[in-house]
Amino acid sequence: MCGIVGYVGGQSALDVVIAGLKRLEYRGYDSSGVAVLADGGLAAAKKAGKLVNLEKELVGRPLPAGATGIGHTRWATHGGPTDANAHPHLDNAGRVAVVHNGIIENFAGLRAELAGRGHELASETDTEVVAHLLAESFSSCGDLAEAMRLVCRQLDGAFTLVAVHADDPDVVVGARRNSPLVVGVGEGEAFLASDVAAFIAHTRSAIELGQDQVVEVRRDGEGGGAAGVSVTVTDFYGAPGEVRSYRIDWDASAAEKGGYDYFMLKEIAEQPKAVADTLLGRIDAGGALTLDELRIPDSVLREVDKVVVVACGTAFHAGMIAKLAVEHWTRIPCETELASEFRYRDPILDARTLVIAISQSGETMDTLMALRHAREQGAKVLAVCNTNGSTIAREADAVLYTHAGPEVAVASTKAFLTQLVACYLVALYLAQVRGAKWGDEVRGVVRELSEISGEVERVLETMEPVRELARSLAEKRTVLFLGRHVGYPVALEGALKLKELAYMHAEGFAAGELKHGPIALIENDLPVVVVVPSPRGRSVLHDKIVSNIQEIRARGARTIVIAEEGDEAVVPYADHLIRIPATPTLLQPLVSTVPLQVFACELATARGNEVDQPRNLAKSVTVE
Ligand code: F6R
Repeated sequence: MCGIVGYVGGQSALDVVIAGLKRLEYRGYDSSGVAVLADGGLAAAKKAGKLVNLEKELVGRPLPAGATGIGHTRWATHGGPTDANAHPHLDNAGRVAVVHNGIIENFAGLRAELAGRGHELASETDTEVVAHLLAESFSSCGDLAEAMRLVCRQLDGAFTLVAVHADDPDVVVGARRNSPLVVGVGEGEAFLASDVAAFIAHTRSAIELGQDQVVEVRRDGEGGGAAGVSVTVTDFYGAPGEVRSYRIDWDASAAEKGGYDYFMLKEIAEQPKAVADTLLGRIDAGGALTLDELRIPDSVLREVDKVVVVACGTAFHAGMIAKLAVEHWTRIPCETELASEFRYRDPILDARTLVIAISQSGETMDTLMALRHAREQGAKVLAVCNTNGSTIAREADAVLYTHAGPEVAVASTKAFLTQLVACYLVALYLAQVRGAKWGDEVRGVVRELSEISGEVERVLETMEPVRELARSLAEKRTVLFLGRHVGYPVALEGALKLKELAYMHAEGFAAGELKHGPIALIENDLPVVVVVPSPRGRSVLHDKIVSNIQEIRARGARTIVIAEEGDEAVVPYADHLIRIPATPTLLQPLVSTVPLQVFACELATARGNEVDQPRNLAKSVTVE
């Protein structure tokens, strides 16, 4: 939540910062702002609404050119999305500017103290106190990094802060606690940003910052950075911090729309590759899994007697499917829990519990807190994560990276499919190391998994009727989704996509629960999407859902049936039939979710909604 960019170097800071903010707008789009150091002073502009509003403002009221600057795109927490509450926030003298991501929990007390010392605060935000505190500290120590350390020691909560001071024009300082911040190091220039997407057009060299660290990037200084720029990392007390450099393997085009109208469309289309990339190098020629990157030894995995999956939103739906896979293939009890609920129910965990934390961003605060709670209880935590160097990836005992590439659209698509793949790999690997069920069925699954990206591709090639159907339903108010077994989380995911993109009432149900209440919702011509399990293998499940389709159709529902090719039993009861390739039951979500993503995206477009940036949402939810 909230995107932050800082720049010092030889280019126009304003241009670099605005371009970076465009790449980060998915993190929040309630308001935006920039500050530039130029001509011995500090100039700022900020505007409520999307970044385009700020750009218009800057055309009418250009800022002076400068080579040091910061910027912010906001998802509001404290104070509504107004011009005054937009970041950057300045001190009363207008010499310090600060941008912030997170929540400063003790801001009310600090604000009262500042007011008592004569400061006038202009906004309702928690952030503004930092600008005033930094100004005070800088005036006593004359060093922005030291001022930042002094201020951070007074703050409670989660924060990434990036600041500049007009009296030290070649310096940008950042700090991080529980919220993301990465450093990009180029030739004679450096970047601070919430996410590498902000600077991959300029450099692939990045430095990961740890918890409770302060970083100073200084032009023409000395130190560990590229020629002409020094990067100094310390903890909040000034002790030198460990610097971990890495190379970003995403290329700049991955964060561009590449000819698609929306990032979401591009990301849906990228799914076959994302799935294949996530499998790459993890299955050997003999069909055995090689997850050498796991830092948890096989001997520990062999002793695991319980698996708990924690995640939020779409990642939680992947976790629901992971539970079915883990229990079926390993016979280890597995529970899946919303990360936001997990630590508050006093879960029973010990050294033999494996907790799997699934997160695309690796920054979701609810999931991070669940991970910390699990580790405190002695459990081992394995992160399934898409973002290199993110907080969840750093703090987990082990990470299995998904290789979806950057996901920019707020609604998750390719990350979900790759989370499923990673969860299957974990479940199968557990089965492999424990020798459980490693028979013909599992071998067959591994073989089909290694070929599944082609099936995802095939689904994508047949989506035009789904788009047409979505357009025809644009005036509807409600759509229901039903599924059983792996189809139930898929139904929930279909409903979530429709809610967040089309702003329609959409609910997913376990089809068997229908008769226990929700069937009362069925009325004439109500669209109901039914995800039908494979008729092979679990035919009882299949027969039951065919009965459910008949029950809702008898009550007037318009049935939209997603069923395997060759499943003829559903034909008489389907008002609309969407075919998917036959797959082993547990793998079916990899193909059955895709039409639901396309459906939601098209319906949102038909209703005139912003597909990539749905209202009220942000991509990376860094507050609890
Ligand atoms: C929905 C969506 C969210 C995320 C959730 C977790 O389309 O994207 O529900 O899945 O906020 O995010 P991560 O995976 O980054 O932890």
